[in-house]
Amino acid sequence: MHAMTDALTIALSKGRILEDTLPLLAAAGVEPAEDPARSRKLVLDTNLPHVKLVILRATDVPTYVQYGAADIGVAGKDVLMEHGGRHLYELLDLGIARCRLMVAGQPGANAGTGSLRVATKFVRIARRYFAGQGRQVETIKLYGSMELAPLAGLADLIVDLVDTGNTLRANGLEPLEHIADISARLVVNRASMKMKHQSIKSFVDRLEAAAGDAAAHD
Ligand code: ATP
Ligand code: PRP
Repeated sequence: MHAMTDALTIALSKGRILEDTLPLLAAAGVEPAEDPARSRKLVLDTNLPHVKLVILRATDVPTYVQYGAADIGVAGKDVLMEHGGRHLYELLDLGIARCRLMVAGQPGANAGTGSLRVATKFVRIARRYFAGQGRQVETIKLYGSMELAPLAGLADLIVDLVDTGNTLRANGLEPLEHIADISARLVVNRASMKMKHQSIKSFVDRLEAAAGDAAAHD
């Protein structure tokens, strides 16, 4: 008898990661029935009857995968580190959306000995990083435009993503300390990994080959 192919729900981060993920998915044989960047639909069918895509805010991807509302997800390592990555298997580094997570500020702003104020979207990562160094900081949660915080006198330092460094430079800031190299990762729900092993393995193998090919052509 024919084994039924397990239904798979794949959670994708909208925004910047989505643009880089779609070509990889296509190379792995999964194509959305309509353009996720344009469609208002949040659940999209694909060319494969058993595969659906859900399009989420980047920070919600690990939550969907953790609870099994999606079997598989694509999310930035920054988002996974902040989430904590509990109950998730991180299976692949897709090598896309590469950047660095850094401490930044005005030149020398990290040199003071007193307690520093750090503004960031990544409060847990920042606390862990500074605690690991035995440095006293007060963290302030922001949701975007972190580079404004030192200019406006809200904070001494920020923890933010840096790629070209253009955003920092345009605001008179400098990268000061490197916390982690970031890229998008494939994560899988633990229970799905057991229950839908065959479907997931075959998808992951195809995606790994596609990511390898993309890296070879970089
Ligand atoms: P939201 O609007 O939901 O808060 P966001 O604005 O952080 O999300 P994006 O800017 O699309 O969403 O970033 C999504 C992911 O892309 C980040 O989590 C990170 O992994 C990666 N990323 C962010 N900025 C850059 C960058 N400048 N260069 C490369 N990758 C980046
Ligand atoms: C990200 C990040 C930095 C910028 C870094 O912001 O938060 O601000 O990119 O890239 P760069 O070093 O190449 O300038 P994004 O453009 O995603 O805008 P956002 O603040 O809306 O997230």
